[in-house]
Amino acid sequence: MLYEGKAKQIYLTDDADRVVIRYTDAATAFNNVKKAIIANKGVYNNRISAFIFGYLRDAGIENHYIAMLDDRDQLCRRVEIIPIEVIVRNVVAGSMAKRLGLEEGTRPSNVIYDICYKADELGDPLINDHHAVALGIVTYDELRGIYDMAAKINDALKSLFARVGVTLVDFKIEFGRTGDGRIILADEISPDTCRLWDMKTGDKLDKDRFRRDLGHVIEAYEEIYSRLESLKAE
Ligand code: TMP
Ligand code: ASP
Repeated sequence: MLYEGKAKQIYLTDDADRVVIRYTDAATAFNNVKKAIIANKGVYNNRISAFIFGYLRDAGIENHYIAMLDDRDQLCRRVEIIPIEVIVRNVVAGSMAKRLGLEEGTRPSNVIYDICYKADELGDPLINDHHAVALGIVTYDELRGIYDMAAKINDALKSLFARVGVTLVDFKIEFGRTGDGRIILADEISPDTCRLWDMKTGDKLDKDRFRRDLGHVIEAYEEIYSRLESLKAE
């Protein structure tokens, strides 16, 4: 094992450019304050993330995903994760609603991009572009490329989820550097890292069910998976 995160483990392979990413059933919220095991969450997140990264690759967005190996494991390109979480918001929710005193569900006229510094000991603080450059993590040019990719990913995912009756409220993505120095989409895109609301009922179909003790957590993940799966038949 190369690295263990909160909900995933990364394993080395015989190929220096490839890793296996294992999705576990561990769930955490509020920077590890709330913890639980949610049976089969890893299986659904592995499948959902594989589906989404495959879809994004077909849409021309280069990413680390190569192939699904089994229920919990996927083969990915090895990258050096840039310690920035890029958050894209189409609808106001979560920390943005709280910070700005806005009602959850408010639909702004623009798309909002936040960046957070991935540093557990600091609680992943919200930063801006200047902080990221001062930290030596990225250049301004690289940030421009990252925001450009984030906008394309948002467009592609918004329309994917709309096809299955789901509003993509917000999501978090991470990028990594390849061996040859390019920056590509990496990590995971799943109900752990997105807010997904049913278009008809407004039901939350994501990790907020765990964060806010709403119950039926795994059912929500299963629902997202089966709706995405249904597109394969089209
Ligand atoms: P926030 O409203 O708490 O800032 O979250 C925005 C989005 O980012 C939401 O879809 C959940 C996701 N997210 C993560 O994936 N990991 C995190 O550590 C945090 C704080 C949010
Ligand atoms: N992923 C973060 C944690 O582990 C926070 C979250 O998703 O709410 O605490």
